[in-house]
Amino acid sequence: MERTEVLTLEEISMPRAAGYLDMIDEFEAAGEGYPYNNIALARRDFAAFVRELEDEKHGIGLPPGIVPQTTYVLVRDGERVLGEFRFRPTVPPPFRTNNGHIGYNVRPSERRKGYATRGLAMLLSKARELCMEGVMLPVVGENAGSVRAIEKNGGRLERRVAGPRSGRVVSWYWVRV
Ligand SMILES: CC(C)(COP(=O)(O)OP(=O)(O)OC[C@H]1O[C@@H](n2cnc3c(N)ncnc32)[C@H](O)[C@@H]1OP(=O)(O)O)[C@@H](O)C(=O)NCCC(=O)NCCS
Repeated sequence: MERTEVLTLEEISMPRAAGYLDMIDEFEAAGEGYPYNNIALARRDFAAFVRELEDEKHGIGLPPGIVPQTTYVLVRDGERVLGEFRFRPTVPPPFRTNNGHIGYNVRPSERRKGYATRGLAMLLSKARELCMEGVMLPVVGENAGSVRAIEKNGGRLERRVAGPRSGRVVSWYWVRV
């Protein structure tokens, strides 16, 4: 019988250090870099990185206008770190910046296997637990994989605007939870 893989969406913690750093190395080796988190700190002192994420989650020490964010990793079979999912439940409307409620990235070698779609579905369950009505997600430029993952989770295009910083078109998707 075929074995079913087990996926978990976990807040980043010390036991994930090696797997997380390995994922970052893969992004960099692929030439994508890792602009999503404080990886210099993660590499230097993972415990301090975890503490920083906990503070970020609780809104401690954030600059004005920056809302709390919880950072999760999607893990396969309790071992392989597949991607990172960031959740900002209190981001306020009217969503004019590039920061919606959710951001994510899947490591290059694990793409097109449905993990963004499944990780997003798991994060939407967390939004549901918080009694949110829905989430807003920005997609910068053309990003067929991200758009498809959002649409497979019931997302609908709400509007397209030029990004305030980059000038690139940002497509805003609303996903009911
Ligand atoms: C965008 C990203 C998260 C997609 O992750 P993924 O795990 O490959 O996505 P999924 O496997 O869930 O794919 C969802 C759908 O999009 C399709 N898809 C994925 N990548 C695609 C691509 N590059 N071009 C066209 N379709 C693509 C998949 O085939 C799937 O469609 P299907 O179910 O109809 O076959 C990943 O490519 C990534 O991390 N990119 C860099 C960071 C980024 O762009 N993050 C999103 C910011 S909005």
